[in-house]
Amino acid sequence: MSLATSKGLKPVLNLLSLAAHDLTFFFVPKLTHLIVACSANRVIGRAGSLPWSIPEDTQFFKRKTLGHTVILGRDSWQDWPDAGHGRDVVLLTSRPALPHKSESAEAAGQFRCAGSLSEAIEVAQSYQGDIYLCGGQRVYEEGLPLATGSLFLTLIYAHVDGDRYFPDWRGQFSREISRKESCHEAWRYAFLELGR
Ligand SMILES: NC(=O)c1ccc[n+]([C@@H]2O[C@H](COP(=O)([O-])OP(=O)(O)OC[C@H]3O[C@@H](n4cnc5c(N)ncnc54)[C@H](OP(=O)(O)O)[C@@H]3O)[C@@H](O)[C@H]2O)c1
Repeated sequence: MSLATSKGLKPVLNLLSLAAHDLTFFFVPKLTHLIVACSANRVIGRAGSLPWSIPEDTQFFKRKTLGHTVILGRDSWQDWPDAGHGRDVVLLTSRPALPHKSESAEAAGQFRCAGSLSEAIEVAQSYQGDIYLCGGQRVYEEGLPLATGSLFLTLIYAHVDGDRYFPDWRGQFSREISRKESCHEAWRYAFLELGR
């Protein structure tokens, strides 16, 4: 390489090395997914529990979120005491005095309370894996427009009575990535992964 060329290259190389250095400080936010099981009329809960018992869906939900961080409302957390086993948990509540760990804290991952969804997502950035928004109703309503990843939707082909609902997702998550049909006893359902 001639002296002239190497001299010409030097400022370019300096710039490239500066850019590479800066890139190490570049912050890439984690993917935020939604995961939910809902009926054809968008019911997700009744009287504080799930209105159905579908073991395959429970297993899917647990497997999907294992090794990741789950964000959930206080009532959903109380309904799922093992949430922290193999997962980090950010619990949404306006009550800062809530106990910070479940009884079996030894097996639990990291755990924190947050007073808003945006704060919860910020906290989750330093926790393990991707972020999964796991309900209930308000978390899904606020999370639907914010989610940057997929919507993992178990769609149950039935009209079900309930008192908690998933918002209408069809306008925002209309791209079908995968679909697997299944059934359990009288329940017919599909595991869908949807993207924006
Ligand atoms: N089908 C499914 O996939 C699915 C998933 C999850 C839950 N569920 C069902 O949904 C029901 C529970 O959900 P839910 O909607 O009643 O209650 P929830 O969202 O689990 O809990 C509600 C509480 O969480 C806190 N919270 C929620 N959003 C918040 C926010 N943005 N900022 C601050 N605090 C927030 C508040 O706690 P404080 O009162 O302490 O402030 C609120 O009272 C149950 O029936 C459950 O089985 C179903």
